[in-house]
Amino acid sequence: MRTSEIRQKFLDFFASKGHQVVASSSLVPVGDQTLLFTNAGMNQFKDVFLGFDKRPYSRATTSQKCVRAGGKHNDLENVGYTARHHTFFEMLGNFSFGDYFKQDAIRYAWEFLTAPQWLGLPKEKLMVTVYASDDEAYDIWHKEIGIPADKIVRIGDNKGAPYASDNFWQMGDTGPCGPCTEIFYDHGDHIWGGPPGSAEEDGDRFIEIWNNVFMQFNRDETGTLHPLPKPSVDTGMGLERISAVMQHVHANYEIDLFVDLLKAAARETGVPYNQETPSLKVIADHIRACSFLIADGVLPSPDTRGYVLRRIIRRAIRHGYKLGQKGLFFHKLVPDLVLAMGDAYPELKSGQDRIVAVLKAEEELFARTLDNGMALLEGALEGGKQQLDGKTAFKLNDTFGFPIDLTADICRERGIEIDMAGYEAELEAQRERSRNSSQFTMNTQVAYEGADTQFQGYSESSVEARVLALYHEGQAVETLEAGEEGMVVLDSTAFYAEGGGQVGDVGQLDSQAARFEVIDTRKIKGAVFGHLGRLSGGTLRLGDSVTARIDRDKRQATARNHSATHLLHSALRKVLGEHVAQKGSLVNSERTRFDFAHGQPVTADELSRIEALVNQEIMRNHPVSAAHMHYDQAIASGAMALFGEKYGDEVRVLKMGDFSTELCGGTHVERTGDIGFFKIVAEGGVAAGIRRVEAVTGEGALAYVHQMEREIKTATALVQAQPGDLVGKLEKIQDQVKTLEKELARLKAKQAASEGDRLGEQAVEIGGVKVLAVQVEGADANALREMIDKLKSKLGRSAVVLAAVADGKVSLAAGVSADLTGTLKAGELVNAVAQQVGGKGGGRPDMAMAGGTNPAALPAALQSVADWVRAKL
Ligand code: ALA
Repeated sequence: MRTSEIRQKFLDFFASKGHQVVASSSLVPVGDQTLLFTNAGMNQFKDVFLGFDKRPYSRATTSQKCVRAGGKHNDLENVGYTARHHTFFEMLGNFSFGDYFKQDAIRYAWEFLTAPQWLGLPKEKLMVTVYASDDEAYDIWHKEIGIPADKIVRIGDNKGAPYASDNFWQMGDTGPCGPCTEIFYDHGDHIWGGPPGSAEEDGDRFIEIWNNVFMQFNRDETGTLHPLPKPSVDTGMGLERISAVMQHVHANYEIDLFVDLLKAAARETGVPYNQETPSLKVIADHIRACSFLIADGVLPSPDTRGYVLRRIIRRAIRHGYKLGQKGLFFHKLVPDLVLAMGDAYPELKSGQDRIVAVLKAEEELFARTLDNGMALLEGALEGGKQQLDGKTAFKLNDTFGFPIDLTADICRERGIEIDMAGYEAELEAQRERSRNSSQFTMNTQVAYEGADTQFQGYSESSVEARVLALYHEGQAVETLEAGEEGMVVLDSTAFYAEGGGQVGDVGQLDSQAARFEVIDTRKIKGAVFGHLGRLSGGTLRLGDSVTARIDRDKRQATARNHSATHLLHSALRKVLGEHVAQKGSLVNSERTRFDFAHGQPVTADELSRIEALVNQEIMRNHPVSAAHMHYDQAIASGAMALFGEKYGDEVRVLKMGDFSTELCGGTHVERTGDIGFFKIVAEGGVAAGIRRVEAVTGEGALAYVHQMEREIKTATALVQAQPGDLVGKLEKIQDQVKTLEKELARLKAKQAASEGDRLGEQAVEIGGVKVLAVQVEGADANALREMIDKLKSKLGRSAVVLAAVADGKVSLAAGVSADLTGTLKAGELVNAVAQQVGGKGGGRPDMAMAGGTNPAALPAALQSVADWVRAKL
């Protein structure tokens, strides 16, 4: 049975059981910050399980694209070395949202696997696991389905914490979770391995094919489990694994789909096709993950999702290199993948050209350093070394673009360890250096006498330019080498240099032989722009031609924030008054921060009026126009200029409809509508008479609102409020807490009273005085004082010392009845005890309190009270 047929059969089976067939969701989870990539079929239904989202169906089935690399479920390093691990795989799943539960889930799974018209697997080849305490699931398997007891394994918390178990599934550190039952297939005794729970379970003989999770809880940030609104079902069956079973092969890589990809990998790397070659398996696996990720919009980059993609691509390239392929090859596998999977996933077909282009560019980038990096590594390992030093591992990463897991992959093949502690130390040292040197590199005080830089960045995002000067550590140099930080001056540029509150652009300068990553742009003097950053590969020379390309997404986000700042400025003046004068601003791609003169806090009502006004002007979609004119003319036309700012004779006037006219050299959106959406996120005072407003726009504003919404939903679920009634519910809870506190205080007082009665009986008589010195449980200083009062009136002529211990500290209280205070002083008594437990205290002759720090000495100190009294009488 071909893989595509199994996929279809699964969906058909569950459709016949009343399940809605739902399309796979994107590999990039939408609006879920807790997840790097979609890693299970249930991800797209997370909010349905939590009760936040409703669907028109209560049963669903999917074949879901999944990536397990770089996140909580990370299989990257195993790929190529086991029969069944993948970075990308397809998960078949059926889901019940408060509809059926354990019984039907198990019955359906069994029927699909064993009924002759579906998969028809031999029953004796299957065995199952259940969560240790899940008797219900056990009984269904044993009594209803008829699985013999020796084929049902109970698995407990085998991962070192409560609910940390192979049979307790959770999506991530937080979110829906519950006990599960897993179905295993026995590939036969010719393969090494033991049943689940045995010492040999990691072998490849018994392979888990299907996991049925009984979703019952939501795990919060503190690890606490909260019951879900309705018990639900989430199942997952790896398509590649079940295909292996159905195609009577053992390894996933032997199924029809992979055979095609392995052949393509062999063809492109120029080695003979062999299913056992780990590097071919790595390449065949990775082309799927990389292509699907790119199809879903991920691009290789230095951070988060993009970095995981980069690591997977580079790992694939390195395995090609290992097979002897030193040229570009990886992107050539894309058409083969489209052939194998394009019918089921049309995004591969429509994205094919883009996928090829992205992979090829990344291959070219890595090709510049791969060879030299490998030479460095080989050199470091010469002479049969057993460990790779941290310095080299670091240098490989920093200068040659070898992610640490790539280096680890190479070392593992050769049975060599990496000195990870040394590597971490180097990494930390570099962070330290860059913290210090960023001030140094940012020093643009260099002696430069050359031509000016032509700024073309108002209209262009990329320009061809020539290198006029290079600086390293503040000194003019002829070349910059890979890994070096420095500053580049060009004859022309698209990069905006920091000014007028707007940060400098970031991006790249690419020559034939090098790439310089620009992390900031500043003016050295006048119209000379310094591009600050680091050479990530190759050598950059004076006179080189480069393509200077800004990061357009960042620039556009910055432009949105900058244009919004102008609207904000006008709106502030309209709502608060003309006295509002700008005192400073900072605009970057993330937010805008605007300081202005105003005598009192801006009220919530004023803030919402300001926000509404700005959004109204955004919706009016005014064209944003810039005109150069004489300063006087600009001011006469009503342009706002900043007091204390220096302007030349000729100024740039930026206009947004009739709403805003300001002198400004910054980069802006074309029309106010491009800003999208404006949201104020903070207001506060920064100095006497100066307020600060912070705001976000566009995607940043949307992300902010999503985050808020998520928090409200989580809070609503945590306190089990009805949607829309969070405040009412919280008020109710507050009332309840108050009532409970009162009740608790009453109970404590009652308990103290009865405790007092009990304690009174332990008093001993010394010379006609009742003496009591005891430790009481769980009382605070106040409770001790109250108990002393009660005991004194109960015992009559008496001296009482009570002690309590909490958090390693001793509290003491002493009381003496009024008729005795002439001879016995409570203050002296409490002090005599306190000194023995490392403290001191004092008070009135009839009542005194003290503390101490040494609970261990307390019993002896209390015993000494009788003698102390005896001596005084
Ligand atoms: N969500 C479950 C898993 O991924 C079915 O194993």
